[in-house]
Amino acid sequence: MLQVSKRIKKTERQKQSANLTDYEQTYRSFSWKDAEKDLAKEASYILNAAHIAVDRHAQTFRKNKIALYYEGENGEKEKYTFLELSELSSKFANTLHTIGIDKGERVFIFLPRIPELYIAFLGILKIGAIAGTLFSAFQEKALIDRLSNSQTKIIVTDAKLFPRVSHILKDLPHLKKVILVERGAKNVPKHPKLLYYSKIMEKISSECKVRQMKKDDPSFILYTSGTTGKPKGVIHRHLAIVQEHVTAKWVLDLKEDDIYWCTADPGWVTGIAYGILGSWSNGVAAVVFGGRFDPSTWYKIIQDYKVTIWYTAPTAIRMLMAASDVSKKYDLSNLRHLCSVGEPLNPEAVVWGQKVLGLPFHDTWWQTELGAICIANYPCMDIKPGSMGKPVPGVTAAIVDDKGNELGHHKEGNLALRPTFPSLMKSIWRRPNKYKSYFVNGWYMSGDRAFRDKDGYYWFIGRADDVIKTSGERVGPFEVESTLVEHPSVVEAGVIGKPDALRGEIIKAFIVLKSDVKPTDALKNELSLFVKKHLAGHANPREVEFIDKLPKTRSGKIMRRVLKAKELGLPIGDTSTLEEY
Ligand code: WTA
Repeated sequence: MLQVSKRIKKTERQKQSANLTDYEQTYRSFSWKDAEKDLAKEASYILNAAHIAVDRHAQTFRKNKIALYYEGENGEKEKYTFLELSELSSKFANTLHTIGIDKGERVFIFLPRIPELYIAFLGILKIGAIAGTLFSAFQEKALIDRLSNSQTKIIVTDAKLFPRVSHILKDLPHLKKVILVERGAKNVPKHPKLLYYSKIMEKISSECKVRQMKKDDPSFILYTSGTTGKPKGVIHRHLAIVQEHVTAKWVLDLKEDDIYWCTADPGWVTGIAYGILGSWSNGVAAVVFGGRFDPSTWYKIIQDYKVTIWYTAPTAIRMLMAASDVSKKYDLSNLRHLCSVGEPLNPEAVVWGQKVLGLPFHDTWWQTELGAICIANYPCMDIKPGSMGKPVPGVTAAIVDDKGNELGHHKEGNLALRPTFPSLMKSIWRRPNKYKSYFVNGWYMSGDRAFRDKDGYYWFIGRADDVIKTSGERVGPFEVESTLVEHPSVVEAGVIGKPDALRGEIIKAFIVLKSDVKPTDALKNELSLFVKKHLAGHANPREVEFIDKLPKTRSGKIMRRVLKAKELGLPIGDTSTLEEY
């Protein structure tokens, strides 16, 4: 089994400055019921994640505190206080109400990272509707799947993204309106379904009574990819904010004077749980940068906003490592705590943080389905570089076999959790059997393979299935395959994640071409672009290989495991179900 590398020891001062000085004690005394009661008291017993995250602060000393520092792609800057965010989101909530949107109906946001995304998200929650977010790299095929399955009533988008929406309007019979955020667009589109954000927000009241929700009432839906079939709608409930709040406090270590930057897009779960809900519920000032990754720009954001807490992802860290010298040009001295999520954080990256930024990265582990951090290196713990850390108080984890029997230390198995924490998904949208399939013998099975060492630290090994993580973004091979087979030259496609030093994995597609089509390099390029154009910018296969035949089971299922083993030069394993190949 894996070697346990040296620890990064925390000093007494570091341990004491963390919110959790004696975590062993906290483990013993912690209960979600108490955490829930504490938060309910703080929030005047109004259970609504938007109220807990933002509105309640608008009634306290935080009223005029900056909640959101926004910097756009082209350097444009804006600031919003908690009161402003509260009022603007109330206006948005009132708008939805006037359109006739009711509790439980789905409203989707398809926007880049601009303030309106955050305002709309909070407004949707305030009236008890379900907020869906869509990463702005999604193209028509990805949009149709998500918007039609959820039967969305409203889409909030901008002038740049609207053309993708307009092409699929005919496929969305449940859609009532599209709200278009103009934000100074030169060519504002016209369409009978369109309402214009600036116009509706101008006239409407900024007072709204936030809807009191029940614990299990849904707050947001996020589509995520598995191995087979279309993406599934993971439903989270309002109560999840209890865990988002507590973990943002303990793991991210958010405190009153912090300036916090979560680099995740709200199209992914981290951008919601720790870019909107858990972070603001701790009353912290957050930075949102709307632009793309670039080492200098990122360091400049940290310098200019005096960022103290930074939550980011391994691919970005590795890209920064590759441009190490750039960091020297910036004053990064305000940073005091660094965290990472989304894919394996290699030990070198933890150590690099310590060496170059003066601070180690603290890895955290969780999933879309889990709604909040479940395993982490929290501030007071010694870090074992390469390990994901330990379960947070209130979360019981184990390594189990396929039948859900617990395995001992240093044994590889399935990483499983007892389903007894508040942020666990409530359901899978309209797929109850899919939801049930996550649970075995009283355990939630994560689909990740891992082991636990004798000190209780968890170490990630890999996925048990074919789900791909490329640059930290979760991609289902089936979605990519079904896009590829729509190309006129393609008969069949098999897609895998291929290990990559920078991006964790890259997408590789194996293609069977029609017999009369020539296998050229230009065609490889065309197929990659085809996925980019029709499915999503981040889902394009960076490698394409033409083959004569795909390995399949006798029942006709593509065996991606075989493609992967061959690609990596590994033994193919059990081939008893394999069709002649
Ligand atoms: C992977 C992201 C290793 C894992 C919040 C998981 C990780 C999937 C880590 C969920 C980590 C997440 N180390 N792997 N610290 N964190 N993963 O749904 O395979 O986008 O199952 O949620 O990312 O990805 P998702």
